[in-house]
Amino acid sequence: MKYLTINYHILFCRLIPRSIFVYIISDAIYYIKKINIFGKMDNLAKDINLANTPLKINVESQQKSASCVDKTTESDAPFIIKEGAAEIVVLSSKNVFYNPVQEFNRDLSVAVLTLISEDHNNNISNGRRKQTDKTLEEQPKNCDLAKTLIAGVKYENGLNILEALSASGLRSIRYAKEVPGLNSIVANDISEAAVTSIRANIAHNDVNHLVTASHSDAVLVMYQHRRYQDRFHAVDLDPYGCPSHFLDAAVQCVSDGGVLLVTCTDMAVLCGNTPETCYSKYGSISLKNKACHEMIGGPIWSGPLHDTDFVVRLSKHIHTSTFGTLRRMEGVLAVISEELNDVPLYYTMDRLCSIVRCQTMSILSVRSAVLNAGYRVSYSHANRMSIKTDAPMYVLWDIIRYWESQNPIKMERRQNVSEAILSKKQTIKVDMTVREDANPESRQLKLVRFQENPLRYWGPGTRSTTCVQENKEEKRIANQGKKKKKRKPDLGPDKQETFKILKQDDEDM
Ligand SMILES: C[S@@+](CC[C@H](N)C(=O)[O-])C[C@H]1O[C@@H](n2cnc3c(N)ncnc32)[C@H](O)[C@@H]1O
Repeated sequence: MKYLTINYHILFCRLIPRSIFVYIISDAIYYIKKINIFGKMDNLAKDINLANTPLKINVESQQKSASCVDKTTESDAPFIIKEGAAEIVVLSSKNVFYNPVQEFNRDLSVAVLTLISEDHNNNISNGRRKQTDKTLEEQPKNCDLAKTLIAGVKYENGLNILEALSASGLRSIRYAKEVPGLNSIVANDISEAAVTSIRANIAHNDVNHLVTASHSDAVLVMYQHRRYQDRFHAVDLDPYGCPSHFLDAAVQCVSDGGVLLVTCTDMAVLCGNTPETCYSKYGSISLKNKACHEMIGGPIWSGPLHDTDFVVRLSKHIHTSTFGTLRRMEGVLAVISEELNDVPLYYTMDRLCSIVRCQTMSILSVRSAVLNAGYRVSYSHANRMSIKTDAPMYVLWDIIRYWESQNPIKMERRQNVSEAILSKKQTIKVDMTVREDANPESRQLKLVRFQENPLRYWGPGTRSTTCVQENKEEKRIANQGKKKKKRKPDLGPDKQETFKILKQDDEDM
């Protein structure tokens, strides 16, 4: 299996007639190896070592809407946006979606597809391509034809890619100009304005020989490519918000051993207050708590999260190119390669300390204490205060108890829960001597390990205060103190009279 996970949410585990998959959501990308969807269920389960959990999907969650570019209101003249090797012409009369914050996502996709293309082309040239098209599964052995491939050149046996929701065509054009060894890319969008823009951008970037614009519903295009010989080696899904309704079609049109690149920007639903919306979209209930980046109310993926070899290859590869977000790519991949791959969940130290109401321990101290106790420890890429460990829970509480004994909290701060935990007897002897190996390389090198605000003040905007009525001032005065006004209790009609009298009595006193 080839896949890479970065910040994930396991959304649901779903059974569909010819394939089973775990749907994982993330604030970056998961690459999925497609399993043989025509196989029997039993075999599928065997293939993936875990019944009900074969496909892994890559997703990114970023708050796109916060930073999409729509410059049409600013100027009437066309202008150009440059990203990677691509140039996007923004026609002033058309609204075309461009989200600069997603550059990291696109950079990572370009890097991943380059490796996928290398393997694909090497396997073909080594004559190991089998009828069942398992090419992406096999690693190159003796031939390194891929190193001689040139980006921007068409290769008849190269990768076929579908970008099902393409907007300006930027992503497809970047693939065409930056990923060597491609045969074709279809850049599809349902919006006429978007397709006009895709055509203009294909011509502007001179990639007609590789990229074809398509104007259709993504689902239709994907179902039209279900036939074995029509399938794509890579399918890229980057919708607004939820991608789940595209997944069935995507799974059917990606070749066996191919990859699905799924971007999801639906964090408000996934970590939000509307579990019913989450259920209708994903078949799972969102949990609005600290664990929301890891899990939702539903099945979780408990197998290895990352294909370590692939992550290592990717980490090396990104330095051979000039990516705009190289620092972030380096940081994320470094944390991922240091991460304990066989431990599915993580703790956050601030949360554990807040349960017993003690001062938060430094990450270095906790990590050292866990290592000194003989267990493994790492960060999770999902949280900078995270602790991933194979130590049992009682060891962590022992460490926290010991820490609290050195930094006691005031008696009056103790309540039932903290008292119950802190008054327990220690099970192990805690040694908090700081160790050098407790400080991982990615931290020592000060890499950009976790998402930083991509732009100043980036994030959800404040609520609009626009008033369409003319009598704005009157409305403001009428609404003054509105929230302070006491609500009347909800009384039945017969009790309202009594309430009025009682209220009058109160006021008289
Ligand atoms: C988030 S944008 C894509 C951004 C693009 N992938 C990029 O990296 O710049 C989503 C696009 O999906 C298109 N879209 C929405 N529903 C669609 C559908 N059912 N079929 C095809 N395109 C669709 C929208 O018109 C929009 O251009």
